[in-house]
Amino acid sequence: MTKPPPIRKAVLPVAGMGTRFLPATKAVPKEMLPVVDKPVVQYAVEEAREAGIEQFIFVTGRGKHIIEDHFDHAYELEALLKEREKTKELDSLLESLPKSGSVSFTRQQKPLGLGHAVWCARHFIGNEPFAVLLPDDLCVGKPGALKQMVQAYNDVGGGAVIAAEERPLSEIHRYGVIAPGKIDGNVIEVKGMVEKPKAEKAPSLLRIVGRYILPAEVFRELDRKEKGAGGEIQLTDSMQRLIGIHQFHAVKANCSWYDCGDKVGFLQANIAVGLSRPDIAPALKKVLSGAKF
Ligand code: UTP
Repeated sequence: MTKPPPIRKAVLPVAGMGTRFLPATKAVPKEMLPVVDKPVVQYAVEEAREAGIEQFIFVTGRGKHIIEDHFDHAYELEALLKEREKTKELDSLLESLPKSGSVSFTRQQKPLGLGHAVWCARHFIGNEPFAVLLPDDLCVGKPGALKQMVQAYNDVGGGAVIAAEERPLSEIHRYGVIAPGKIDGNVIEVKGMVEKPKAEKAPSLLRIVGRYILPAEVFRELDRKEKGAGGEIQLTDSMQRLIGIHQFHAVKANCSWYDCGDKVGFLQANIAVGLSRPDIAPALKKVLSGAKF
């Protein structure tokens, strides 16, 4: 089997309006809400970096400029931390900075849907396979989901690879759902997919999670700008048309997923990440065990 081309670039669509999180998201992008002490979007960048990504393309919109500031030097703050000998804090700030020239930003201009947001990154991607990470879907586990997916991509010899997670039937109408074929460990052949199906029409209980490895041909499909579920240009519809042309797999990544675009999911993420952190887990456990809710 020939080695597939490497996955070097990742698109992070962050142009959504975050209406489920109002009023918090009126002036602050939802991707900048912190899970414990890090903005949601930083977890996605760290996961991508761990998977070997070298170029990060953010698809932003109005009011999202603080995401740019977050991934840049903050000279005054850095000088102040140095002066006060807060070495640990300074090191952690500098460590989280992507290399100069490795981050690009483009604007979606109108929130026409996830498919449209990904299409906006087409000139940055060119003609190579790439990853997409939706920061809302937070993966807690090591290695991160994208690294596990890149491994599967190399093992199967390329094509499209998406992340999947099993959810109860009562929730399935909220998600993109896959029709599975052959299963090999945690790698599942994808025979079809449908966006937000009614429970009785769902082809499985496997929802698509916000991590994708896609061939550049997906842009040809997105070029059609066809509207799908909810009147939005859906990524799922364009991916669906690649099945049969490219091999298509889903990976049930070995990690826990939290939907940070949802209030309860966001609170769960804070607790799960807090409990995974040796510096705060003991105190948090105490609070949770004696909690009077
Ligand atoms: P969501 O479906 O969560 O939509 O988007 P949203 O607008 O961000 O949030 P709500 O539903 O109003 O609360 C899933 C992902 O797709 C991106 C979002 O930023 C998020 O990462 N997205 C969505 C775009 O970049 N552009 C769009 O037009 C829609």
